[in-house]
This record gives sequence, structure tokens and C-alpha cells, in this order.
Amino acid sequence: MDSSQKHLQFKEKLAAIGQEHILAFYDGLNDESKADLLDQISRLDLERTPDWVDNYVKNAHSMEIPPEIDPATSYPCAPCEGSQSEYAKAREIGEKLLSEGKVGAFVVAGGQGTRLGFDGPKGDFPVSPIKGKTLFRIFGETILAASIKYGAPLPWYVMTSPLNNAATVESFEKNAYFGLKKEDVFIFQQGTLPNFDFDGNILLSAKDTIAKSPDGHGGSLKALFDSGAIADMQNRGVEYISYFQVDNPLINIFSPLFIGFHAVSGSEMSSRALIKSHPKEKIGNFCIVEGKMTVIEYSDLPDEYAEKCNADGSLIFELGSIAIHLISRSFVEDLNRDGFALPIHRAVKKIPYIDATGAIVDPDEPNGVKLETFVFDALPLAERSVILQTLRQEEFAPVKNAEGDDSPAVTRDMMIERAASWLEKAGVTVPRLGGIVDCVIEMAPSFALCVEDIEAKLDEIPELKAGGEYYLK
Ligand code: UD1
Repeated sequence: MDSSQKHLQFKEKLAAIGQEHILAFYDGLNDESKADLLDQISRLDLERTPDWVDNYVKNAHSMEIPPEIDPATSYPCAPCEGSQSEYAKAREIGEKLLSEGKVGAFVVAGGQGTRLGFDGPKGDFPVSPIKGKTLFRIFGETILAASIKYGAPLPWYVMTSPLNNAATVESFEKNAYFGLKKEDVFIFQQGTLPNFDFDGNILLSAKDTIAKSPDGHGGSLKALFDSGAIADMQNRGVEYISYFQVDNPLINIFSPLFIGFHAVSGSEMSSRALIKSHPKEKIGNFCIVEGKMTVIEYSDLPDEYAEKCNADGSLIFELGSIAIHLISRSFVEDLNRDGFALPIHRAVKKIPYIDATGAIVDPDEPNGVKLETFVFDALPLAERSVILQTLRQEEFAPVKNAEGDDSPAVTRDMMIERAASWLEKAGVTVPRLGGIVDCVIEMAPSFALCVEDIEAKLDEIPELKAGGEYYLK
């Protein structure tokens, strides 16, 4: 089909759903821009667009709270009386899978980090207490240390978006893939969804460009497949995907216990959870809805559920999602083979656009809607799903805001505290003042990935003095 036929065909299709204005400047474009715009239109999901407009753009979709929501069950962090052997077995299986190279790391890094006010890929944000290592460096060094520990190459899949792909690739190249082999790092882009004004019109950001934004971390399940990452995993024999967010330097990327529980239970998508600090903590809630594992965002869980307590005062809905999952490769393959669509979520935003005269408008107030999907909405699609609890101080210190909660200062203190508590568990004396660690410690992943790794290195640790600075590598 030549371009004028394509143009006509799209014009008709767009007119049928009230979106023909995106071709308003078409006739005045040069041939390259014409082809580019037609290509962008061919990537739009014109079939679903009217539903998005009616149900998410023009009207705020109110999440229907199902009549029955039950709390999800979970494995505690440590075994209770009688379940020690179950935990030991899971750990052993996890270690075996790692030594067979059957697990890959997967970071979703397509977001913008707007709240942090950092210009650039969030993975380039420096967080470590002494060396100022970036998030990407910490993950890269962790993956390298785990590959050495388990004697198998463990690949790293990195999802970016059109907003930061070029800068991310540049960062990996400039930093020599953080010590990993280039062939063990697979960087790919997620998809996008068009942006709308409040009347449901798709916005243009230029005469030849549709305004688009990343399709949310839920887009990872399709992008893993479309990009060839899943095929790469098949070639390598990777069966399990360790999913995490770019903002959390405390993530234990290759937890043998978690991998083991996931594998033994035959789960398709598993999660780590922590006990919420208060009923309305800003994290998702693990629930069972119609027999299926479901995450209900903090903003959607009604107060009467969020605040419901057991007789001992503990929260009934106590399990919070920290966006750490294990996903079976076969689950992603099945979803893509059979076709799937995750629910859409809307976000009202300030979106620059061009008006009907072609002039660029940079609005001061929110003027439109961006749509995205969330990865945890795939949990109800899984046949089986397990949760393993973790402790906040062990595994969750996200950098989200410039100041206050979830800020770099809090993350830094938590990194020091975790290093100190690991050292203390290994028998090392750490100076503390009023309970707070009274020195600065940074532990490189090459030094230890867990407490047990420290035990073999006790003679390398200097005496830790109050006010001192110690980088253990
Ligand atoms: C998220 C979760 C929340 C969880 C919390 C834990 C959502 C809606 N909520 O909140 O349940 O308790 O983290 O820290 O996700 N990303 C992409 N592409 C996108 C959008 C995001 O790769 O299109 C990535 C970001 O780079 C980041 C992660 O997804 O790594 C989370 O995104 P963000 O928007 O920061 O989520 P939160 O609101 O912090």
C-alpha cells in the first residue's frame, strides 16, 4: 500500500472514532514526516481507543471495590516452629537454580523520576553513603557479585522508555556495563500510549508527532516479549525473572529463599511484602479477590478495610507491596501467546501540545490525561502466586522524593543501618550512639550479599570507631 492509500485508510479509521484531527497538519509535512506520522498512527490501538476515552479520559474510572476482599496469606520472613525444613529446602533449591544460571535480573527503569527532581535516568542517581554509587552501579555490582558467588552468568534485563533510552544506553556504555559483560546486559524499550485532552482528543506534541508517554510498568510484560528479551532468556535457559524497580538500592535481587519458594510452589508470579507501618501507608495492599491474588493501591482501598484490625491490634490488611516479584518466563510467554490486556489507570497531568493553529502550548495547569498499566495487575491472571514477607530495613529503601519520606537522606541512613546490622549479626562491634550507627559504613556488593558472606571475611574488617568512615569491598 503506498503512502497516499495508507493516509486515506487511516483518515477513515480515525474519523470513525473522532480522532481525525491528528492528521490536520499532514498535507503540509515533508515526505519523511508524513511517513513518520503514519507509522505512529499504525502503532496506536485504534480499536481500544474509544473505550479508553469513554471510561478513563472523559470520566474518572472509579475502581469498583469488590463485595468481598480478604487479606492475602504469606510466608513469614523466617520459619516458624516446624517449618524450618521447608525453608531450608526452598533456599537450597533457590541456590541450585542460581548456580544453574536459571534466574535473570529485570529492572523497570522507564519512569521519569519527576518527584526526585533529577534530570536524567533515575538509575544514574547517586545514593551510596561514601562512594556515591548510582542505583545502576549498585545493581550491576550486585549482579556481578552474585554471578561470581553462584558460578554462573546471571543476565540483566533493563527496561527503558523513549524518555530515557538513549541516556540509559549511554550511561551503561560510559560505565563499561558496571563490570558486567555487554552480552549479559539486555536493554530494551517499553511501549507508549497516546495522551489525551479532557475531551478525549489525542494530543499532538508537534505537527508530525503524537503526544505519547510510557505505558506504565505493566507494559513490561509485553515489552519483554516483543523486544526479544524472552527469546534471549530461552536461549540462555533463564526460567525465572527477578523483577524490581529502579528506585530501591536495598533490593536483594537474587534471594535464594524467594526463588526457591516461587519454584517449589509452581507459582507463576510471586511477590515480596512487608508489614505496613500504618493503615494508609502509600504502598499497594495484597488482597484476595474472588480467589485471586490482587494488589489494591493504597488510594483505592477503602478506609474501613485499611483500618480493620485483629483482636491483637495488628492490621487485617497488613501486607504491603514493595514492587518486588518473581515472574516465571513461561507465564510471560503464555500471556503473550494467548493475548492479554491489563486494566488501564489514568493520571491527570500537564501535557505540552500544539493547538489547532500549530502553536506550542506549555500548560501551567493539568490539561489532559496519561494512561498506564501496572505490573501487579497481572497477579490475578496467575494460576498460582505466593508471597514471602521481608523486613523493611533489609530490603526496602526507595528513593522517590527530594526530601522527607523516601528521600536520598533516608535511603543513605538505611544503607548504613543495614550494613551495620549485617556486621553485628556476623559478630562485629559497631559503634552506636543512642541506638543510631555512629560511623559511616558502605558495604560493596563484592564484599557481601548477605550476612553469611561476611563470616568468611571477618579478618578483613578493621576496628570500627565512632565517627569513622569505612568502605568494605
Ligand atoms: C510503586 C507502586 C506501589 C509500590 C511502590 C513501592 C505503582 C502504581 N505503585 O509506586 O504499589 O508500593 O512503588 O516502591 O506502581 N516505570 C517504568 N515505566 C513506566 C512507569 C514506571 O519503567 O511507564 C518504573 C519506574 O522507573 C520505577 C517503577 O516503575 O522503577 C515505579 O514507578 P513509580 O511511578 O515511581 O511508582 P510509585 O508511585 O513510586
